[in-house]
Amino acid sequence: MLDNISLLPLTAEVNQAGHLMVGGCDTVEISREYGTPLYIFDEFTIRRKCREYRAAFSECYPDSQVIYAAKAFLHGALARILMEEGLGIDVVSAGELGMVRKNQFPPSRVYCHGNNKSAEEIIGALEYGVGRIVVDNLYELAMLNEIASGKNQQADILLRLSPGVDAHTHQYITTGVIDSKFGITISDAEEAVAKAMAASHLNLVGFHSHIGSQISEIEPYQLAMELVRKFAAEMKIKHRFELRELNVGGGFAIQYTQNMPAPTIDYFARGIAGKLNGLCQELGLDLPHLTVEPGRAIVGQSGIALYRAGAIKNIPGVRRYVSVDGGMGDNIRTALYQAEYEAVVASNMQGKEKTTVTIAGKFCESGDILVRDISLPRIVAGDIIAIAAAGAYCLPMASNYNASFRPAIIMVTDGKARLIRRRETLDDLTNCDV
Ligand code: LLP
Repeated sequence: MLDNISLLPLTAEVNQAGHLMVGGCDTVEISREYGTPLYIFDEFTIRRKCREYRAAFSECYPDSQVIYAAKAFLHGALARILMEEGLGIDVVSAGELGMVRKNQFPPSRVYCHGNNKSAEEIIGALEYGVGRIVVDNLYELAMLNEIASGKNQQADILLRLSPGVDAHTHQYITTGVIDSKFGITISDAEEAVAKAMAASHLNLVGFHSHIGSQISEIEPYQLAMELVRKFAAEMKIKHRFELRELNVGGGFAIQYTQNMPAPTIDYFARGIAGKLNGLCQELGLDLPHLTVEPGRAIVGQSGIALYRAGAIKNIPGVRRYVSVDGGMGDNIRTALYQAEYEAVVASNMQGKEKTTVTIAGKFCESGDILVRDISLPRIVAGDIIAIAAAGAYCLPMASNYNASFRPAIIMVTDGKARLIRRRETLDDLTNCDV
């Protein structure tokens, strides 16, 4: 009956009324109070993932650090949890840095990414005193050195390398291959190392590579590490460069559907730590500080999206569409990446009579489908449908398409539901107009 419950937040359960509970709260009641579409985050699941990631890596590689990739989802309430759980944070824009700064996230634990950082973004990062700036290209390297020297500051940097590794994921979220806008191709990276070493206001601490997202194999990481580690060894001989930090990026897959299980955190941690230990031993080099940047794996499972069912269209022998009050405006992942999700009927978790339905959004695009052909308890208008594993890359990629209002967000903890972001209103849509 509850096949899908393992994809939901860790606190998910069903109450006497047959409603989905998360964090000790009845999701149907919450959706009545705050309206739909609505995103609910479970604090327990977020904290558990933070702890599991830290423990898994530090167990097999003590000198390691987990840096959360803020692009997966960012909110002050989350930043505070990450802070308490001892994670770092990776930001990619003035906006993300500004939000992190507003919450007084410890600057030394902030990593700045981006393949086209503006001078203003670099200035902001230096002023906040971030721990690392991950330099993506030679243009940025020169600009950063100039700005840092103007401020008489030293910037600790990593160089982002593109190792030319195929991570076997969707092409839009693959980044490590040669034909990518991100990073410096390893074969061209010697010039960057030489320039960084010679730059008066840069301190080259190490290398970074991120090979893609939703990756379920360890081999692409290991291959990338091998290429980067060997390149570092060559740079030691040629330029006296010491690799003090190796950042292998994020991309660890999570489970979205029953038929696509994801590897465990330990599998990734052991595979990465084992490879790095082996490489350093083989090359006779010191072990660098290891950093990883999971985004999806920290917040994906903690979030659910709640929608209210409305119009139901049955095309006999073809398909039964259940339209809901959200869709690609708050979750573009199905339309953009053919991403697959599972759903449950939060208002009727125990319904016995099942039908196969396609859950469609309300946006003016035929591609606005949230879940195709899923067997669910019979849905009637007014039922609340919950999409599992909606915590990552839904809200941050949400838009106001069709002048829709982006959803409210609730954080649930120990039986308490707290509104952490209100639903947008018409005023929010017109406030910037002049
Ligand atoms: N580090 C860097 C440098 C990244 O670019 C990313 C993601 C991460 C870490 C975190 O990756 P994660 O652990 O979350 O997979 N919108 C797409 C995902 C784009 C990922 C972009 N970079 C999606 O919805 O699947």
